[in-house]
Amino acid sequence: MTKQLTQVSPHASDWYRTAIIYQIYPRSFMDTNGDGVGDLPGITARLDYIASLGVDIVWISPFFKSPMKDFGYDIADYCDVDPMFGTLADFDSMIAKAHSLGLKIMIDQVMSHTAEEHPWFKESRSSRDNPKADWYVWADPAPDGNPPNNWMSVFGGSSWQWDTRRRQYYLHNFLTSQPDLNFHCPAVQQAHLDALRFWLERGVDGIRLDACNFHFHDTELRSNPPATNRDTATVSDVNPYGMQAHIYDKSRPENLPFLQKLRALLDEYQAVSIGEVGADDSLAVMAEYTADGDKLHMAYSFNLLVPQCSAHYIRQQVENFEARVKGGWASWSVGNHDVQRVATRWGGPEAPVAFAKMILAMQLSLKGTPCLYQGDELAFAEADVPFELLQDPYGITFWPEFKGRDGCRTPMAWSDAANGGFTTGKPWLPVSPDHLVKAASKQEGDAESSLEFTRRFIAWRRQFPQLTRGDIEFFDAPEPVLALRRDAAGERSIIAVFNLSGAPVSCALPQAAGGEQIAGYGLPGSVVDGQVALPAFGAWFGYAA
Ligand code: NOJ
Repeated sequence: MTKQLTQVSPHASDWYRTAIIYQIYPRSFMDTNGDGVGDLPGITARLDYIASLGVDIVWISPFFKSPMKDFGYDIADYCDVDPMFGTLADFDSMIAKAHSLGLKIMIDQVMSHTAEEHPWFKESRSSRDNPKADWYVWADPAPDGNPPNNWMSVFGGSSWQWDTRRRQYYLHNFLTSQPDLNFHCPAVQQAHLDALRFWLERGVDGIRLDACNFHFHDTELRSNPPATNRDTATVSDVNPYGMQAHIYDKSRPENLPFLQKLRALLDEYQAVSIGEVGADDSLAVMAEYTADGDKLHMAYSFNLLVPQCSAHYIRQQVENFEARVKGGWASWSVGNHDVQRVATRWGGPEAPVAFAKMILAMQLSLKGTPCLYQGDELAFAEADVPFELLQDPYGITFWPEFKGRDGCRTPMAWSDAANGGFTTGKPWLPVSPDHLVKAASKQEGDAESSLEFTRRFIAWRRQFPQLTRGDIEFFDAPEPVLALRRDAAGERSIIAVFNLSGAPVSCALPQAAGGEQIAGYGLPGSVVDGQVALPAFGAWFGYAA
């Protein structure tokens, strides 16, 4: 049977499949008022820089009103900007400038939980019979006073917190100050859809949906069984959360009809969505949530955010997803605000710039919309944040075996001025000395720099629809070589071979390759007598025979 290849002619509604997402962590991007924390006018001021990378969508982590216990992922008002970040007028100016540069804006929607300070929670906890009494997940204690079941919080300990007012426990999958909303209550779903419409009316082009498989819980509150296959992608192996099979506290089937309602609303505005999935089998949930064109557009998981990787592992993740997906679409991230920076995580403490370049090229050659994290285009290493300066409660709980997320959240270094030009005040986290050396202004115009490579590679990739919409297949290759092909109807197939290591390798070129190298991708690699020779972190792109 002849295989039906993906057509590359773009469907207007599928534009996100050829897009590249750039993630901003707003606290650490650019501060314009000297309070040491980034803000929306700071983002506006740096949009030209983002546009110059050649990316399409800017995902901004939460900037809504928040007590900041989880740095914005604890929301106290879904429809307002926290004064720390600016005002709604600042948001409007930012989105107008983004649109004038051809950039789309994606906001973070944290629907699963609110902040304790949210008026909904204040009302809900005030009594057992107020109008919002069932807006959160409340449960009576077990007969011995213990929590109703064994569910655990991702951030440590039981996910149940005792509340003296109602003399009941409430559920929190993350911090105790992040109570979980009860999605079984239709009014909760509607309240979220209304809040989302508020932003769609303001012109947002998409949403990133935080922890989107945590929306629903088992109404019978059944305890989770022990894990048979410990999930070490979503949480570190020092976290007992990974010891349970999370079949009752998340990834529940009732989420699918909710995602369909959400999609119907997004479709009214031609807006797109990307869901964050942290599940026991995240690839299956990603496939399920993006299937059939009536739920999420894209989903990402922690599968490529893991501490270690190999060529075989990367191949396995992509193949597993492709084997399960039905019309859906992945987004592959190798770095974000929740994990150690990729340069250090996969490249080691002294990862050279060549490593960052190769990883970017590899990520942008996988099938799925790539999501880049601020600073990775500059090859930033993980910052070393001493315990006394730690901000992240997750890191403080699991210190020293797991240091939390501050090391990837330190401020951008724009120049070698004090504090990297990020702020005129005292930055909320220290600017890393490694980042000052690699500041954006120092890389600007330097052809060898990671910044200029990122720009060039993104522009180069745009010429090849196979590399965005095309099908993907992998070839057997010895570690540390990752070899793949991308095929699309009417286009010449492209073969890409990457050396993931810092030592030169040579191996047989996949038979399908014709040996004709494609010019201009910017990494070292050659083919001699059917052997592909790749220097440290090199790559070879060529056409199939
Ligand atoms: C996932 C977010 O990416 C993370 O930063 C946050 O702490 C949790 N969800 C809770 O909202």
